[in-house]
This record gives sequence, C-alpha cells and structure tokens, in this order.
Amino acid sequence: MTETAASAAVGPGRDRQGVVYRDGALGRRPAVPTAFGDLERAAQRASSKRAWAYVAGGAGEGRTMCNNRRAFDRWAIVPRMAHGVTERDLSSTVVNTSLSSPLLLAPVGAGALMAPDSDLAIASAAAATGTPYIFSNQGCNPMEDCAAAMGSASRWFQLYWSSDEELVDSLLHRAEAIGSEAVVVTLDTTMLGWRPQDLNLGSLPFARGEGIAQYTSDPRFRDIVRQRIDAAREMVAERPDITLGAIRTLMAMTRNHPGSFLDNLRSPVPRAAAETFLDIYSNPGLSWEHLATLRDRTRLPIVLKGILHPDDARRAVDLGVDAVVVSNHGGRQLDGSIASLDALLEIRAAIGREPTLLLDSGIRSGTDLFVALALGADAVLLGRPYMYGLAVAGQRGVEEVIRNVIAEFDLTMALTGARSIADIDERFVRPNPSF
Ligand SMILES: Cc1cc2nc3c(=O)[nH]c(=O)nc-3n(C[C@H](O)[C@H](O)[C@H](O)COP(=O)(O)O)c2cc1C
Repeated sequence: MTETAASAAVGPGRDRQGVVYRDGALGRRPAVPTAFGDLERAAQRASSKRAWAYVAGGAGEGRTMCNNRRAFDRWAIVPRMAHGVTERDLSSTVVNTSLSSPLLLAPVGAGALMAPDSDLAIASAAAATGTPYIFSNQGCNPMEDCAAAMGSASRWFQLYWSSDEELVDSLLHRAEAIGSEAVVVTLDTTMLGWRPQDLNLGSLPFARGEGIAQYTSDPRFRDIVRQRIDAAREMVAERPDITLGAIRTLMAMTRNHPGSFLDNLRSPVPRAAAETFLDIYSNPGLSWEHLATLRDRTRLPIVLKGILHPDDARRAVDLGVDAVVVSNHGGRQLDGSIASLDALLEIRAAIGREPTLLLDSGIRSGTDLFVALALGADAVLLGRPYMYGLAVAGQRGVEEVIRNVIAEFDLTMALTGARSIADIDERFVRPNPSF
C-alpha cells in the first residue's frame, strides 16, 4: 500500500480507536463503556429507580422492545474481501439537512431524570459531534436555549399535536424562529402506553413538572394556564390530601417550574401548568385531516414519526410529507407490536426507493446502523444509548456514545467494502442462517 492510500484509510473509526488507545497508554479509560450491554448496566447503576423505569422501561411485557432487537438478529452482514476501498464517504442529505453520518439524535423527553439540564448537555454534544438533534416536545429546557447551545449546528423540532390548535401554531412558529430545519410530528403517542415500570412506582415525570419546558416557556400555553387559574378561583376548590408524597410532588413542581423557587412556592401556576399540560398535550382524535393542514401552517419540511403500516406510509407520501420515521417509539407505546426494522422492509417495498425513510427503535451500534441502511433506511435515529451516555458521564458521555456508534459504522463500511451511504444496500446482508 502506498503512503497516500494508507493515510486515506483513516476515518472516524480509526480516529476514535486512536484516541481511545492513546488515552489507554496514558492510563485513561473511556468515559462510557463502548459496548451497549455494559453501557446499559452502567447507566442503570447511575440512575434513580424512577429515572430508570421511565427511560429504560417499555409498554406491557416488553415484547415490542424484544422484537426490535430480534429483528436485527435475524440479519447477517456478508462482507466482501480485497475490495480495495480506502476512502469512505459517510455524508448524505436527508430532508435538506446535511449529515456528516447517517445518524440523528431521536427526540427524548424528560431527560432531566438522567442529568440536570439534560437537553442543553445533549444539544452541546450533538453540536460538538456534528449530529443533528431533534428537540423533544417533552424537553426539559426550552427549545430557544437548546438552539443557543448549538450555534449553527442542525436541529429539528418534534411536535406532539396538542388538543389546543393555537398551541400547535405557537410551537410551530417557535420551531421556525429557532432555525429548526424540519418539524417531526409524532403520531404514536396520542395517549401514553401502558408502562408497568412507571405504573408500579406511580411515577409520571410530567406530573412533577419534569419534561414540560416547551410548554411553560410558551406564550399560548401560559395564557391557557392563566385562564385555568382564573376559572378555578370561581369554583369551590377541591382540597388535595396532604401526604408526604403530595408535598414531594409539590416541591418537584415548584423546583422544575421556571422562575424563583420561593415565588413558585407561593404561586398556583406550577401546579396548574402540570395539570394543564396533562389535559392538552395531545389530541387523541388526531387524524389525517389534521395533518393535511400542516403545509399551510409552517414552511418547515414535515416528517411523520411512528409509522409502521405500509398503507399509512403511502398515505404520508400522498400527503406530500418530506420523510417518514419508521418507529414504534422504542417499544414504549404498544406491547407486542411489529419491530421497526421489520416494518421498514415492508414499507420500503410498498413505497419504492424514492421517499425518504428514517428508522429508530433498537439501534444500539454502528452495525445496526449499517443493517438498517442496507434494508432501506436513509438514516437512523439514536435513542436510549445516548441517554445512557448522559446518565453515566453527562455531555461527554453523550459525545462518546455518538462517536462510538459512528466509529463502528465507519469500520463496518471499511470491513465490508462500502464506499458511500448510497453504496450500502441489500447486497451486504442476508437472512441470518444462525438465527
Ligand atoms: C425516555 C424516552 C423518552 C422519549 N420521549 C419522546 C418524545 O418526547 N417524543 C418522541 O417523539 N419520541 C420520544 N421517545 C421515542 C424516541 O424518539 C425513539 O423513538 C426511541 O427512543 C427509539 O427506541 P430506542 O431508544 O429503544 O432505540 C422517547 C424515548 C425514550 C426512551
């Protein structure tokens, strides 16, 4: 090999290995474990029971989460040899956003369960690694603050369709104002799924004012809260039971609400905000008619998240949306649901090669990313793994998780002989004979 070819072989995979091994020679270890199983165990140790139940937990018996992983196990990568590929191009463009690798950070709400100012830490990590971050509608920091933490780096905004249409417009308007490059409407959470881990602890973060920062920072939402407080003054107030738990919840609401703790303690607003949120955060009657109004309400590209059936994907394409995220919400909504990866295959077959498809639910490593692309995804969303990085080592942990996934993806391309994102297709995979 010539020297030029040897240096060209360096990419994010070799770079990351170089950093880790050089640090190792100086006696330093990575901030987070580099394999998912170890990362998950470390994150559990670093988390409270309540946080772990919410972030790691799933719907019902956990069968959807299990399906998500088994779907990946059913595929095997078949590498090619002596391909001579030394230069790899991991870049691509989805929905007008330039990607340095086919990875975005999924919207994940109530992150402060894992670390304070979670969304700011994630936003900074995303910007530092050049990875677009999809701000959650259930974020713990207002989208304006996250955008400021990212400078000019790419961000999208994820919307839950509120039952208050003016709130929908207000959130869309703010998303445009912060330079969001797309709006992602999540369809699968018109109600919360049946989540035994949370139910057994009686724990719902939003009831404590966790994960409602996009609402408490919203002018329309604040108006609704004020109206609610005024209306309550005219009614005979129902006195809640005063228990230790009730006091703790009140303290949490007070702490999590913007503004000074003492002012909040004297104010009815934090409690009214949490209650209002629970009443209006989503519209159980969400329909295609609502979605059809989006084009006239925002200039942002539109992405629909949570689609699993080919007919729904066709309908989304017919509506003219810019992309679909094939997702089962990480198995948190419906137990016993089809794995996202299995749905991806059916959907890609139904709608053809052209429409942009993203995938999440079950991505744990760079090889998962490779398999998802080979089976028809244009890019993937990383979810729980980066939250685990956050739990273990804050912003640095998120950065390392992202860098590790991209490094392994790059090495997978190198070891299979894929030159570019467009090059990765079904030729590189086959049903796993060992499964
Ligand atoms: C703790 C947690 C909170 C989440 N919050 C949101 C959210 O606010 N909005 C949303 O669209 N999806 C949300 N999701 C779903 C993720 O966007 C993504 O679909 C999921 O994490 C993918 O599954 P995986 O993490 O197991 O790979 C959440 C997921 C988790 C784990």
